[in-house]
Amino acid sequence: RSILLVNGPNLNLLGTREPALYGSTTLPNVISLAQSQCDRLSITFSHIQSNHEGVLIDHIHEARSTFDAIIINPGALTHTSVALRDALLGVEIPFVEVHISNVHKREPFRHHSYLSDKAEAVICGLGVYGYEAAIEFAARCLEPKEK
Ligand code: DQA
Repeated sequence: RSILLVNGPNLNLLGTREPALYGSTTLPNVISLAQSQCDRLSITFSHIQSNHEGVLIDHIHEARSTFDAIIINPGALTHTSVALRDALLGVEIPFVEVHISNVHKREPFRHHSYLSDKAEAVICGLGVYGYEAAIEFAARCLEPKEK
C-alpha cells in the first residue's frame, strides 16, 4: 500500500504562518511524523509540497500508477481550482482532503471546496493531527490497487 501526501501553496510556511490558526508544528515535522506512522503501518510514503498549481497537478498525474491513496491539503487552491479537481478525478486515485484549520469557522470564501464532493473523507479543524487521522483512515479503509 502506498500514500502520497500533497501540500499546496503556503504550507511550506507551516509553524511560522498564522500560528493561532495553523499551530507551531513545521512542515518537516509533519512529514517526519507521517513517515514514521507509515513505516509502522507498512505503507510506502511519499510527499510533495508546492506553491505552484501546475507542479501539484504534474505530481498527481505521476502518482497514477504508483499510489493507492492521496492525502491532500490543497491550501487556498481548495477554493479556486477546478484544474486540481480534474487532476484528482483524472487519475482515479481515492483521496482524503485535509485542512488544519476549521475552514467553516472562517471567511465564507473558505466554506466552498472544489474537492469535497469527490473526496473519500474531509478532515478540518483537527490541527496537524488531521494528517495523522487521514493516514490512519487511509490505512484502514483504502484497498490496495490491483497490480
Ligand atoms: C487550509 C485552509 C485554506 O483555506 C487556506 O487557504 C490554507 C490552509 C488549512 O489547512 O486549514 O492555505 O487548507
